[in-house]
Amino acid sequence: MAATRACLVSLVVALAFLFFFEGTAGVSEQDLRQVRSFLKRVNKAPLRSVKSPDGDIFDCVPVSKQPAFDNPLLKNHTIQMRPFYHPGGLYDDSNNVLHPITQTWHQNGRCPENSVPIRRTKEEDVLRASLVNWYGKKRPKNILKLYPVSSDVTSGHQHAVASSSLDKYYGTKITTNLWKPTTETAQDFSLTQLWIIAGSYGNNDLNTIEAGWQVYPAMYGDANPRLFIYWTSDAYQKTGCYNLFCSGFVQTNEQIAIGGSLSPQSVYGGSQYEFDILIWKDPTGGNWWLQVGSTIVGYWPSSIFSYLASSASYVQWGGEVYSPPNAGQTSTQMGSGHFPSEWYGKASYIRNIQVVDSSSYLRLPNGLGLIHQWPNCYNVQNGTSSNEWGTYIFYGGPGRNSKCP
Ligand SMILES: *[C@@H]1O[C@H](CO)[C@@H](O)[C@H](O)[C@H]1NC(C)=O
Ligand SMILES: *[C@@H]1O[C@H](CO)[C@@H](O)[C@H](O)[C@H]1NC(C)=O
Repeated sequence: MAATRACLVSLVVALAFLFFFEGTAGVSEQDLRQVRSFLKRVNKAPLRSVKSPDGDIFDCVPVSKQPAFDNPLLKNHTIQMRPFYHPGGLYDDSNNVLHPITQTWHQNGRCPENSVPIRRTKEEDVLRASLVNWYGKKRPKNILKLYPVSSDVTSGHQHAVASSSLDKYYGTKITTNLWKPTTETAQDFSLTQLWIIAGSYGNNDLNTIEAGWQVYPAMYGDANPRLFIYWTSDAYQKTGCYNLFCSGFVQTNEQIAIGGSLSPQSVYGGSQYEFDILIWKDPTGGNWWLQVGSTIVGYWPSSIFSYLASSASYVQWGGEVYSPPNAGQTSTQMGSGHFPSEWYGKASYIRNIQVVDSSSYLRLPNGLGLIHQWPNCYNVQNGTSSNEWGTYIFYGGPGRNSKCP
């Protein structure tokens, strides 16, 4: 099933290469030189930097110097600082979020106007991910592409997601509550996201736009939930990456840092902290814009895509856990780590799920399908309500347990 397939392949990109590096003793001089030249390319010269309490450094890079403009496809691109058009609709409740989340680094400062905050990639990040080996020995010329594709795209991934039916889509909007799922190992990840999909995996022309929050210790060096984005235009072959690791996404805003940690997290049986993600295709210009909460963060230029230059054919929403294959069932949590049957206050949810139609209008999705390969490990349930919950799902689970050995 195409939707399942697309779902399965997403976010896998980093994984084949993310096994822990055992100290730096084995790193050759040549590898270190490669890492440093890579870092020189991804870390642009900042106007100033902000050190976050969680240890991250955010470089405030001039808008015009951001990584996007290294992309040959964007050579003649004129940056668009704001969208021409914002979708309309009945359920636009961006101001209705009960307990909004914030970004941790804001505690220590902000970036000035006309700059964008970029999470600095450190030498140990690259070494930890063991990218040195791969880049250094196999495809040294490709070092700019931090997270290349795996040929094995299904093993190790578990999903509990809802999928739209096949149609033409121009965006989606969700509200999701934030958690801090634990991962069994640092190589495991746990995420909540949306997928905007066109093309097909089999033809190597799958186009995706992805956004959400993830816990991924091997990538970020800690277990905090972080805002992330992803894109590809060729089924994760040569194009695309997480966050701003490659050139593609154009950031226009100085407030929100992609890859930055989010807080506070929801409390089991207590306060629920949530935020909105809205992605829509601007009918004028054709770019796909990202809004987080009430902040417009930037856009994926239409010109980096093939199918998504016109429209998407599916949208999906939900959770995914990855654990390296052959390690047995992982106890990495999805969402809150509790099953959807526990419902509000205890399970993770994505509520007020809407899609953007061809008139740039937000509306309820038709015919949701649920995908849960191992419901005794991680599950998903849908529901509808006439209030601001609209169409929603509860999803997640603990992973390994007596019914999920
Ligand atoms: C950029 O503009 C030049 C000059 O008009 C043109 O030759 C080139 O093909 C353009 N490149 C892209 C990627 O559009
Ligand atoms: C779940 O989704 C299916 C398919 O769209 C729908 O038929 C069903 O009514 C939904 N369940 C609830 C409780 O909304």
